[in-house]
Amino acid sequence: MTETQQAQDWDPSDPSVRVNQTAAYDRMRGTCPVAHSEALNWSLFRHEDVSRALHDPETFSSAVSHHVAVPNGMDRPEHTVFREVVDRYYTPEKMAEFESALQALTAQLLQELTDDAVPVTSGAQGEAAASGAGESVTVEVMSELANPFALRCQSAFMGWPRELEPELERWVHRNHEATTSRDRSRTAEVALEFDGYIRQLLDERRNAPADQDNTSRLLHETVYDRKLTEDEIVSIVRNWTVGELSTIAGAVGIVLGYLAAHQDVQRHLRENPEQIVAATDEIQRIEDPFVTNRRVTTRDVELSGREVPAGSKITLMWSSANRDEEVFGDPDEFRLDRDPQQNLVYGAGIHVCPGAPMARLELKVLLERVFDLTERIEPAGDMVGAQHPAGGFHTVPVRLVLR
Ligand code: HEM
Repeated sequence: MTETQQAQDWDPSDPSVRVNQTAAYDRMRGTCPVAHSEALNWSLFRHEDVSRALHDPETFSSAVSHHVAVPNGMDRPEHTVFREVVDRYYTPEKMAEFESALQALTAQLLQELTDDAVPVTSGAQGEAAASGAGESVTVEVMSELANPFALRCQSAFMGWPRELEPELERWVHRNHEATTSRDRSRTAEVALEFDGYIRQLLDERRNAPADQDNTSRLLHETVYDRKLTEDEIVSIVRNWTVGELSTIAGAVGIVLGYLAAHQDVQRHLRENPEQIVAATDEIQRIEDPFVTNRRVTTRDVELSGREVPAGSKITLMWSSANRDEEVFGDPDEFRLDRDPQQNLVYGAGIHVCPGAPMARLELKVLLERVFDLTERIEPAGDMVGAQHPAGGFHTVPVRLVLR
């Protein structure tokens, strides 16, 4: 059977999947761990199969698209050359340099958010009053905290002006709508629009010194003894921006929603703040902000007893592999003593996330500041799950009970 004739094992757009992706992927992992569908081709749900693909990039190629995709759409040896450029921006020294700007923007955003705090009086907030806390503020995390936080982090890291933020915010919204509608031409149109913003930012920096900001620095990078092309830079910046604006934002919603719903974990982290980074990795293992990535097979392979021919498109199901009971036991159990090597939240192998040091730092700084400011974070309504290809939640209502 060819790829197009292959029978459909499941339908990723079925309402039962859309209503709760995580639960649907859990079921697939149990019943059909290597499953074919028209939309996602061959989906790998088990940790073992996903890990195998990650650690055998010769068989599971990342060259899945004809578009320039630096470095995610590249294989070795080209990937190594471009990846070296990208990695230079996320070293421990670079992260230490970025931290003071990150602390300042986080403090400012939380200040704006809590300016509207109201005194705690009665009802659901009575407990807060009893504990001595004077005020609380109800926040829809995704729109009021996660998205603005990610946007300001990205602008600060890249050296972009604050005036661009409302434009980028509207773009993130349109991009989200286009990707969830699965309308490819609309998605391509929105991507082009984004490229326009980036090309303008690059044009403004043509004559700027390399050390002005990270955007101008990219204009001076070289590969194979030549400068990066504009298309390569735009692709790099697009990847970083999506990593920040959608994945970090998703992670913020997941982590704050989880802590609101799990007061025991929240108390533990308030008492043991040095465990915040391990905890944000573990919470994202339970509920992954990043759902899928693609590969294409360069030869016939057998995965979980199924024959997958050469040239097959593969979808790595991160949010399923990270919940595989064969590796993690009860996937919903929060544990800080798990083997970090098994956690695939930032991937593994040559394409492991280069932005992971920044993602971890941003989540840590945000949680530390939120803990400083609050007595407690409580749920303030039902969380609404996002739909594939987005991960995490669309709506996360919480109440910040202030100190
Ligand atoms: C919570 C936040 C994040 C999560 C969970 C995450 C997750 C991942 C994962 C699982 C991969 C592996 C993809 C694959 O194997 O095909 C990846 C790759 C990548 N991520 Fe992230 N990411 C996050 C944030 C970021 C940020 C902030 C940036 C940049 C600023 C970023 C940039 C990238 C890039 C460029 C790649 C491709 C690397 C390559 O192909 O060599 N990510 N990310």
